[in-house]
Amino acid sequence: MTKVIALANQKGGVGKTTSAINIAAGLAVSEKKTLLVDLDPQSNATTGLSDLIQPESSTIYDILINGTQVESGICKTSLDYLDVITSTNDLVGAEIELVGIIAREYRLRDSLETVVDNYRYVLLDCPPSLGLLTINALSAADSILIPIQCEYFALEGLSQLLQTIRLVQRHLNKKLDIEGVLITMYDGRLNLSKQVENEVRGYFKDSTFKTTIRRNVRLGEAPSFGKPILLYEANSSGAQDYLTLVEEMLERDRKTSG
Ligand SMILES: Nc1ncnc2c1ncn2[C@@H]1O[C@H](COP(=O)(O)OP(=O)(O)OP(=O)(O)O)[C@@H](O)[C@H]1O
Ligand SMILES: [Mg+2]
Repeated sequence: MTKVIALANQKGGVGKTTSAINIAAGLAVSEKKTLLVDLDPQSNATTGLSDLIQPESSTIYDILINGTQVESGICKTSLDYLDVITSTNDLVGAEIELVGIIAREYRLRDSLETVVDNYRYVLLDCPPSLGLLTINALSAADSILIPIQCEYFALEGLSQLLQTIRLVQRHLNKKLDIEGVLITMYDGRLNLSKQVENEVRGYFKDSTFKTTIRRNVRLGEAPSFGKPILLYEANSSGAQDYLTLVEEMLERDRKTSG
């Protein structure tokens, strides 16, 4: 059974893309066949994996807007178990162009239909907005993973995100579940980090991942080499944290699938 996970939070810079790249790589090295779809016009996931990708001619824009077959956009990577659908800046226009398309909220789900079964996990890296690209991701997903950065106003905007999730559950995708809330950029020396962690765990309870992602400069450097952290600096705390998170996700899935 495939599990489709959207990484979403309309707040910018909270660790969506870093988590998408490094969870995808972690799942792939755990021999779980994984597809990462870059749904952000900023194309940070595409750039962050550029050293591994053998590019294809079609991008997510062609697939969503021009109706290009999804197969022609699936890029193999140097990791056997990881494929990627890339994005380009064209995708900026998609937010508006989608408005005129029939079944616009289901465009992504319908496009992926012929390939999802080839994967154990499909990860959707969303842009920092609650526009139609994110709505398409939530309509296609089994669950949403919400990264929250340890900073002032960390919880700001979350009620709007939760409201959007409820609306999607009610009108577009009944099965949408919360995969988990992920605390990112944690710095154990700062009271602020501990406060944010307490608030998040108090509010989201068991929906919060046990694993927190610590602040680690290597995680910030890896994308400029086009590599996930595991292939850039496997001994870093960033690599360890993402591997622990992947293990936690796999363990949960083993329990729920019996
Ligand atoms: N644990 C971490 N430690 C240090 N730096 C990090 C960590 N996680 C992410 N970063 C850095 O923080 C910045 C924002 O992270 P990222 O791009 O993953 O966020 P995002 O939510 O995808 O942003 P956007 O909303 O713009 O898509 C990046 O420069 C990234 O390298
Ligand atoms: Mg991003």
